[in-house]
Amino acid sequence: MTKMKTWSFSWVLVLIASSLFITISGATTVHILNSMPKNSGQVNIHCESKNIDLGLRVLEEGKDYNWPVEENAVYYCEAVRPPRNIASWHAFEPERDVGHDSVFWLVKEDGFFLSWDNATWVKEADWETE
Ligand SMILES: *[C@@H]1O[C@H](CO)[C@@H](O)[C@H](O)[C@H]1NC(C)=O
Repeated sequence: MTKMKTWSFSWVLVLIASSLFITISGATTVHILNSMPKNSGQVNIHCESKNIDLGLRVLEEGKDYNWPVEENAVYYCEAVRPPRNIASWHAFEPERDVGHDSVFWLVKEDGFFLSWDNATWVKEADWETE
């Protein structure tokens, strides 16, 4: 390799390493906790951003579904509670959530509640009936 090539190769490595570092250190984790009453069954959740489809998740009662945000974009989620309840909301919104380590969601009988500290909750969405 010539000196020039070595130089640009190292420079590319530095760029890759620093963008990885920014991505990892700045990452927000989204948590969705099924906090429905006992025996109300599972909730099916499907979340996606512009470029990432997280697929369908079946969330049993009391279970926490979580993932690291990998795209700085809105993560849109749909929830289905058989037989007839559906809901949709933004699990992650850059303008609202960037800078927080975690975004917590509680899925309850009376709706969807947001918290950044897993302690204080604000209702953000409702169940609807099909
Ligand atoms: C959120 O709080 C609940 C109740 O205090 C606790 O059980 C749970 O582990 C917490 N979740 C995280 C991810 O810290």
